Amino acid sequence: MNRTESAIFLREVFDFSEVPRTAVITGSGQDGALSFLTERQELPFSEIPYFTSSTVPGHGSKLIVGRCGGRQVLALCGRRHRYEGCTMEEIVYPVRTLAALGVREVVLLNAAGGINLSFLPGDLMLITDHINLSGQSPLIGPNDDQLGPRFPDMSEAYSAELIRRMHLAAARCALRLREGVYAYTPGPQFETPAEIRYMRTIGADAVGMSTVPEVIAARHAGLLVAGVSGITNSAAGIAGPLSHEEVLRAGERMNVKLSRLLERFLES
Ligand code: HPA
Repeated sequence: MNRTESAIFLREVFDFSEVPRTAVITGSGQDGALSFLTERQELPFSEIPYFTSSTVPGHGSKLIVGRCGGRQVLALCGRRHRYEGCTMEEIVYPVRTLAALGVREVVLLNAAGGINLSFLPGDLMLITDHINLSGQSPLIGPNDDQLGPRFPDMSEAYSAELIRRMHLAAARCALRLREGVYAYTPGPQFETPAEIRYMRTIGADAVGMSTVPEVIAARHAGLLVAGVSGITNSAAGIAGPLSHEEVLRAGERMNVKLSRLLERFLES
């Protein structure tokens, strides 16, 4: 894998007047959250060197370049997950390519289960911090000093400035935006009720199977990060049994809200 090669390829294909400052990465069933992008150009991941397509239903696996608020925005629809059997390096490869391209900030979207008992399916949660419960990191192994430091600081994993801008964007479109801590598990099984009680005890508000590897790699490479979880379901043991179909359906219903929020955020 060679992120410089992938970045050069993207520069040639899209002929950017200026490399987009912001990129968005979407999760399960969330491609519709990008419906506001105009002058869209799309490229399947299968046509980008070293990019791989998700095996998960609901993930589009394509790159979109479009415009919003007078600026170009880059979006990656779909991501890889540890439970697909990919390595952490494969999961974070697109984020490292964005950094190599010159993108400065990345907005990561995901679907998550609500642990906080005041969260309802359909709520949007701005991620203020995370808890990595996987015991894994994309930074394990020899450090690539060209990318970032051996021991990157994670005390502001989610940019305070982007959090402020996201709240402003939510206020501008009169949207209720919750805040909370995202717990990461590699999946693919949903959690047990005991695991959810444990996560609540240690301070998690939502749980999901993505995003954290990308956040770690993004911070390592010096990108600013914002994260938004669409709460698709109450976590295990709170309501009924869970299914991916339910997660996808609920995710799709949230795309209108997500799309309004993102559009306002990107205009700011
Ligand atoms: N658990 C883990 N990941 C998820 C969930 C959940 O309840 N909902 C959506 N993604």
